[in-house]
Amino acid sequence: MDCSKIEVLVSEREIEKRLSELAHQIEQDFPQGEMVVVGVLKGSFIFMADLVRRMTRPLACDFLRVSSYENDHSTGVVRMEFDLTQSVEGKHVLLVEDIVDSGRTLRYLLKHLQASQPATLKVASLLFKEMGTDSRKLVDYVGFEVPKRYVVGYGLDSNGLYRSLPYVGAFLE
Ligand code: IMP
Ligand code: MG
Repeated sequence: MDCSKIEVLVSEREIEKRLSELAHQIEQDFPQGEMVVVGVLKGSFIFMADLVRRMTRPLACDFLRVSSYENDHSTGVVRMEFDLTQSVEGKHVLLVEDIVDSGRTLRYLLKHLQASQPATLKVASLLFKEMGTDSRKLVDYVGFEVPKRYVVGYGLDSNGLYRSLPYVGAFLE
């Protein structure tokens, strides 16, 4: 793992500050009642862990896993690898993603979760890659917009590595 070839796009301090703002806004927006925070593995695990620790209301955490990327390239086909452990019917759901790029994964997940009839379904994504699509309106809470480059760190990987970096960066071109 050679970090000398990585340019920092979003620093640890910027992430910390933004997370507090997001947590506060989410807590204000979500109605009373049972809240379930759903993380999309593996990329969202650090963002979700840091986000929920800034929230004070009672909440449950669950995870699902989908895959579409192989060797840093999208295969175009989204596959559910494993699903939630409990029903979200009637609950207030916050879906937590690492990054929304084409929006294909997110559209698939929203359709999948809507079928369980949650009372609320909102989306938080640490990053949003501006790709000229209309997927921005599907994301209620965006941490940062990033350029059209392959990014790693703070949960995001390249061939399974770099998830543990405390910042978001891109490989130097
Ligand atoms: P989409 O379906 O094209 O929106 O891609 C979403 C998924 O692809 C994300 O949840 C990530 O797991 C992965 N992904 C997309 N772009 C990047 C990137 O730049 N770095 C790491 N993972 C990415
Ligand atoms: Mg992902």
